Amino acid sequence: MRKKIVAGNWKMNNNLIETELLLSKLKNSNLAPNVEVMVSPSNLFLKTSIDFLSSSKIEVVSQNVHNKSNGAYTGEISVGMLKSIGINKSIIGHSERRSHFQESNETLLEKSKLCLENGLGIIFCFGEELSDRKMGKHFEVVENQLSTTVLQISKNKWQNIILAYEPVWAIGTGETASPDQAQEIHQFARNIIFKKFGKELSENTSILYGGSVKPKNASDIFSQTDVDGGLIGGASLIAEDFLSIIESNSES
Ligand code: 13P
Repeated sequence: MRKKIVAGNWKMNNNLIETELLLSKLKNSNLAPNVEVMVSPSNLFLKTSIDFLSSSKIEVVSQNVHNKSNGAYTGEISVGMLKSIGINKSIIGHSERRSHFQESNETLLEKSKLCLENGLGIIFCFGEELSDRKMGKHFEVVENQLSTTVLQISKNKWQNIILAYEPVWAIGTGETASPDQAQEIHQFARNIIFKKFGKELSENTSILYGGSVKPKNASDIFSQTDVDGGLIGGASLIAEDFLSIIESNSES
């Protein structure tokens, strides 16, 4: 059975004090036992966050990792570095990485392979831009993003892959995909996995939705058959909102 997951992507927000404050609010709350909860603070505070959450069920994940294992890449962070502080997952291919840092599907495949070969799980993001959707190309774009990246990964590594559908037009805009629009793409993605790897893997892969998930819309989105949880941006910075979203997934 696939897992229910709610992950908070904090992006480039929160200094050290703010990070600890938010972590302490989450740590001291009752979290639904049937939902896996993850937070992704700045890479600078990952180790502090792991230590801070040591007695909690909340997992700390990285927002990004470099596509080479080591070397002269000033300012970058490697898979080995993350593993050495106890990180077991990284977000890969967020649309902000694709657009602001020109990360191509080719680079993302390289990153994904390096992570998975070294035991670092991935939360792999995909999703179309508004112009793609307006032209009716969203299925084609999503299929291309998946087939050139994660579908190239061997089946035996897939237990460490979580997918996250994040339509670019819904990220940070307050505009959310309707539950039907989310379900349509999630089902489409699951079917692509089914065609390549079969029923069992397609049914066991968690697919999260990301893009302006808030306490008021979380239940409707999470209640969709192929939506297993959310990758939350803005609302994950407010403890009460994030906790409410976790609760919504628990009840879906
Ligand atoms: P928002 O929830 O702020 O739209 O961000 C979504 C996101 O990008 C999560 O990775």
